[in-house]
Amino acid sequence: MERELALEFVRVTEAAALSSGRLMGRGDKEAADRAAVESMRRAFDTVYIDGIVVIGEGEMDDAPMLYIGEKVGAGTPPQVDVAVDPLEGTNLVAKGLPNALSVLAVAPRNCLLHAPDMYMDKIAVGPKAAGCINLDDPIESNVRNVARALGKEVEDIVAIVLDRPRHEHIIKELRRLGARARLISDGDVSAAMSTAIEEAGVDILFGIGGAPEGVLAAAALKCMGGEIQGRLVPEDEEEIARIKEMGLEDPRQLLLMEDLIRGDDVIFAATGITDGDFLQGVRYAGTTATTHSLVMRSVTGTIRLIKATHQLRLKPHYVARSCQGESGGV
Ligand code: FBP
Repeated sequence: MERELALEFVRVTEAAALSSGRLMGRGDKEAADRAAVESMRRAFDTVYIDGIVVIGEGEMDDAPMLYIGEKVGAGTPPQVDVAVDPLEGTNLVAKGLPNALSVLAVAPRNCLLHAPDMYMDKIAVGPKAAGCINLDDPIESNVRNVARALGKEVEDIVAIVLDRPRHEHIIKELRRLGARARLISDGDVSAAMSTAIEEAGVDILFGIGGAPEGVLAAAALKCMGGEIQGRLVPEDEEEIARIKEMGLEDPRQLLLMEDLIRGDDVIFAATGITDGDFLQGVRYAGTTATTHSLVMRSVTGTIRLIKATHQLRLKPHYVARSCQGESGGV
């Protein structure tokens, strides 16, 4: 994929963040999500790709926009797979909590795992500990191996875990080992990425979150030189059948980086919606707004941080209708 596309994809996550950021702290996660989806969908129309959504807002019958199988982009080559989460962390935006992002990943056609909307068990680390984890090993050996790779004591290790009853055993084990558990209410894409960003102060991610989020995190970590391993966690026969439909013979297969993202070419873009560990959220001031984004290409491993000031009156089409005032602006 051409490197110029990277900037085009940032425009898409910026548009979603600009719309949903308006609704931060309003207690309405559906409205914030709708705003992000609407703006992202519209922004895609201006991008010169022939894209198919492989990870999106759900199946065609459940989602009006950015549904799985929907074509996005201007319809010109390259043919690509598109994974989107216009608003990753709907509760975070509704409550004004940190680390809500708008994210997308794009790779050549058939290179992104078409992960169904179900849970995935995950383990993730940044570049220094890549190659030292195994989802099938006990938590203790993973923590010890990561500590060794990072030149730290086990007591220094910070593990990030979604705060859910299903993770009680993980949290208990981390505390028994003397490692430090950072519990988060939502947002495991940002959490997985933070393992690869030294300033974020996170060493490893453990636990079960969404499978689509697992593929998005894999795209980000591939660009950053980190690693994520996953295993789908089907909850009933129907989910097992869905896994088989997507071509995985064994529903419990351990999914490695190359299973999640095939090939070497993936572009990942994210824009902060609320303030986060590595991206500031959207700031509005009258008719302008500022966004902070990052965009990365796995081919070169370049991580580009982009601060943009937007003149909202000049781009009303970027902002979801639900956020527009009488004049069509914000
Ligand atoms: P949404 O943005 O769809 O609300 O997802 C937020 C999230 O926290 C993800 O980051 C995570 O993978 C998933 O939900 C965890 O699911 P659950 O809330 O069911 O434990």
